[in-house]
Parts: sequence; structure tokens; C-alpha cells
Amino acid sequence: MGPLIIRSVSLGDAEAIAACHKEAVEKKAADFYSAAVIAEWAWTPDRLEKIHREIQNPDFIYLVASLDDRILGYGIANPSASELKSLCARPNAVGRVGATLLMALVEQCKARGCTYLELSSSLNAEKFYLDNDFRVLKRDWHTSESGLTMECVMMRFDLS
Ligand SMILES: CC(C)(COP(=O)(O)OP(=O)(O)OC[C@H]1O[C@@H](n2cnc3c(N)ncnc32)[C@H](O)[C@@H]1OP(=O)(O)O)[C@@H](O)C(=O)NCCC(=O)NCCS
Repeated sequence: MGPLIIRSVSLGDAEAIAACHKEAVEKKAADFYSAAVIAEWAWTPDRLEKIHREIQNPDFIYLVASLDDRILGYGIANPSASELKSLCARPNAVGRVGATLLMALVEQCKARGCTYLELSSSLNAEKFYLDNDFRVLKRDWHTSESGLTMECVMMRFDLS
């Protein structure tokens, strides 16, 4: 088994990122939301198009964690908006892939002058973020494009 590599993405990673996202959501969040919410969060027909747009957005820091050329996780931050946009890690034998990606994103956000990050956490990820020094701002609801509602937690991490 090679080392876990954290690197920036290219458009050629899009399909592997979509597969990683789908597996992470289906395997790690299914106990917290309805089957309909999980299905829509895991995959929508515009998913690849969205990933392509995000990869090409110069405001975003977009990193993947890969092992032996397999993507185990990815994370996206927008430091100019002080926003952690997304973080996913599929089940793996390495351990702490999400935390490693989060640390790398934080370092790059700090380097761009960002002083705090906020995010809308899913219920399943709340403990992960609390363990990684985020604090809860408020509980909230997210409404998807199809009108499904999903309980979430607004959280914040001070980088200074
Ligand atoms: C939230 C999320 C990104 C956290 O990432 P993560 O890699 O699971 O979290 P951590 O970095 O804390 O690592 C925990 C894992 O490392 C393992 N681990 C922890 N310490 C370890 C060690 N010293 N050695 C080996 N393994 C270790 C844990 O057993 C756990 O493994 P598991 O995922 O198979 O149960 C991930 O769970 C996920 O993608 N969830 C679904 C999508 C989601 O909700 N994203 C957030 C949206 S806001």
C-alpha cells in the first residue's frame, strides 16, 4: 500500500470524485436521513457538470486524497467566502482521511488570509467537525432543488 497523497484536482478526476461522493454518502449518512434524501444527495444527473464547474472555479481550493491512484476522499473550500463547501471520505483502510483533507484545506485557506471557516454540516458529520474544533452556530434546514428538506448544523472554525 502506497502513501496517502493529498493533491489538487484536474477535470479527469471528476468521475472518480462523483463515485467517491456517492459511496461516502450512501455508506456513512444513511442512518441519519430518509432514503429519498440520501438518494438525491448521493447522485443527481447534473452531478458531473457541477463537479466540472467547481474544479474550474478559481475561488475554490479543491483537493483529493488518493491512495495507489484511487480517490478515497475530496474536500472543497472557498476562502474568500470563509466557507468549507464539501468534505467526503469513502470507507477505507487508511483511517483519518477526512481529518487529513480538512487539515490541508485549513492550511491553504490560512495561506490565502482566511481567518475562519463556516459550513453547513450534515447530522452524520457533526461529531467529526466537533472533534476537529468546529463549534455549532445553529441548527437549520436545507431544502434541495426538488424540495426535499434535510436537517443540518451550521458550524464555525476559527483559523487564528
Ligand atoms: C464526514 C467525513 C468526511 C469524515 O471523514 P472520515 O475519514 O470518516 O473521518 P476521520 O478523519 O475522523 O477518520 C475516521 C476514520 O478513520 C479511522 N481511524 C481513526 N483513527 C485511526 C487510526 N489511528 N488508524 C487507523 N484508522 C483510524 C476511524 O476508524 C474511521 O474509519 P471509518 O470511516 O471506516 O469508520 C466522512 O465521514 C464522510 O464523507 N461522510 C459522508 C459525507 C458527509 O457527511 N460529508 C460531510 C458533509 S458536511
